[in-house]
Amino acid sequence: MIKNQPIGLFDSGVGGLSIWKDLVRLLPMEDTIYLADSKNAPYGQKRKHEIIELSFKNTELLIQMGCKIIVVACNTATTNAIKELRIRYDIPFIGIEPALKPAVNNSTTKVIGILATQGTLSSELFANRVAEYKNTKIIEQVGHGLVSLIERGDLESAEMTTLLEVYLQPMIAHNIDYLVLGCTHYPFLINQIKKIVPATVTIIDSGAAVARQTQKLLTQLDGLKSELGGKATFFTNSDSTVMRQLLGDNSNIHFKDF
Ligand code: DGL
Repeated sequence: MIKNQPIGLFDSGVGGLSIWKDLVRLLPMEDTIYLADSKNAPYGQKRKHEIIELSFKNTELLIQMGCKIIVVACNTATTNAIKELRIRYDIPFIGIEPALKPAVNNSTTKVIGILATQGTLSSELFANRVAEYKNTKIIEQVGHGLVSLIERGDLESAEMTTLLEVYLQPMIAHNIDYLVLGCTHYPFLINQIKKIVPATVTIIDSGAAVARQTQKLLTQLDGLKSELGGKATFFTNSDSTVMRQLLGDNSNIHFKDF
């Protein structure tokens, strides 16, 4: 591994930007390449074999661009394709899964909620994880429609609020004290979610843990870049307006089409 090679990340669209933000906060010296496959979003409604094929395609693009490690910044792609990715490619991968463990370990009501895509909640990997936590009730909810609205930059519409209320109220009625955001798009809804759930509910996502895991693996592989000044390049196969909005002003960022 060459230390100065970039870290690659991919997602079905803009969701993985939530992971990218945590990653560059922890590793500001690293160059990053982010691939948003927005043309094919949402992945959450697709069949497993389609998610695997798209993940292969994204991985190959990032390998061609010279990445040293790939962060699968998508729960749906990780839970459906990480095994196949690891078998097929030599490059190291970091996957992202819903953060059930900290929620279960810290819950006092012993009832937690998870909001994720159909693809994640129906995956074998997720079912295996849930089976590890027998003493806690885990309320699973598919966030139908949320990813499409986020991809359109529609974060604060009445439609978004209505969907979130429909998905979260039953969890609140069951007295959850943790809400796990099991899709990398959902951290962009945190302000709207906070308006619905009581302050006693802790909302968690996996971004910081993924960043730490990436740092740990690069350290083990002696692949951390040491000089400061990371450059970020964002590739999208759709319009980049929403991506630009979510990233805000930053002169170190470059956008490209693929
Ligand atoms: N952001 C992705 C995830 O973490 C996928 C969303 C989608 O395309 O359905 O699951």
